[in-house]
Amino acid sequence: MNLNQQYLTLTENYLFSTINHKVAQYQQKHADTKIIRLGIGDVTKPLAPAIIEALHEAVAEQGQESQFHGYGPEQGYDFLRQAIQEHYQKNYSVALAIDEIFVSDGAKSDLGNVLDLFSVDNVVLIPDPVYPVYVDTNKMAGRSIVYLTGNRENHFLPMPDHNMTADIIYLCSPNNPTGAVYNREQLKAWVDFARQKEAIILFDSAYEAFIDDPALPRSIFEIEGSKECAIEFCSLSKTAGFTGTRCGYTIVPKALIRNEQSLNQWWLRRQTTKFNGVSYIVQKGAAAVFTPQGQQQIKADIAYYQENARLITNCLDELSIYYTGGIQSPYIWLECPVAMDSWAFFDYLLTKAQIVGTPGAGFGQSGERYFRLSAFGKRDDIMEAIARLKKIWQ
Ligand code: MLT
Repeated sequence: MNLNQQYLTLTENYLFSTINHKVAQYQQKHADTKIIRLGIGDVTKPLAPAIIEALHEAVAEQGQESQFHGYGPEQGYDFLRQAIQEHYQKNYSVALAIDEIFVSDGAKSDLGNVLDLFSVDNVVLIPDPVYPVYVDTNKMAGRSIVYLTGNRENHFLPMPDHNMTADIIYLCSPNNPTGAVYNREQLKAWVDFARQKEAIILFDSAYEAFIDDPALPRSIFEIEGSKECAIEFCSLSKTAGFTGTRCGYTIVPKALIRNEQSLNQWWLRRQTTKFNGVSYIVQKGAAAVFTPQGQQQIKADIAYYQENARLITNCLDELSIYYTGGIQSPYIWLECPVAMDSWAFFDYLLTKAQIVGTPGAGFGQSGERYFRLSAFGKRDDIMEAIARLKKIWQ
């Protein structure tokens, strides 16, 4: 037998595993020290009451013979798909057919799984810096990657270059890690480019709930022509605190045809073969996110994280540190102090201030001089982190 040699092209550990390992080592040596974790973007607010109520009801149903649910539809229950369909119509004026919506256990899995549909010889365009899952999953499959550099000059929003070849294009807006958001004209330019190249955009909208400027698109399907060239991946992780509960959705339009084949049909075929769906209980909880009460409650939680982000950016302003993000995004992307690369800065912050962030290099080469702080922490921790930052920097 032979192993998939492509795994040898990966870094030894996934970014957040490396960070966890380093932090655990430090904590072991400094057991009494309070470490403030602003690294991985994990939520800290509990699930909203409307969601909890729906989860409880679903648990009770599973204990009753007359209401028990066994295997569900692999692509999700209609009650949840309908709720998502109405959400797109009401909030983005996007009309979706119910069978264009596939319920998943989160965006990360589907962003990796979708690669099953594509041949290994496709050229993949990936922005740099960006969520490392896009790079690692393509490396595992042995695809060649072309990086699109994001930097201060282009406001971390790389645009298409018509001389480039492209088959698969990843876009993440609001961007993880930089917080940069494409406006309508910029997304339209990407859609036009993809259509011209007959490429497919894999659009990660996991952070869309943080956009509160109505001028900015929250779904790629708000852009004309996108249904012929894009798949959208969204998650309730950051929208509604589902990082530990797991639920998301992927939209594969029926208008997406390549080589005379329907990608929607192929994805259905893939999911029905390899996935048995998200649990009934979790889908009931997810449906509650889209009720008026659920929306009101999750928006209050998002506002809390947005306020955290505002407090952090105010601190960076005071310290005259360059950053992006923090507005329309839960991430703050700051420049490392001179003479430190991002892993050196990680160690410096951990040892000097006991604050954990994410080194920019973990998101790609263009992140080498940057560092990401997450605003998903508890308010007290954010205030304490700000005080510690001021102490070491002022
Ligand atoms: C992050 O911190 O980049 C995310 O939380 C990771 C994820 O969503 O998988």
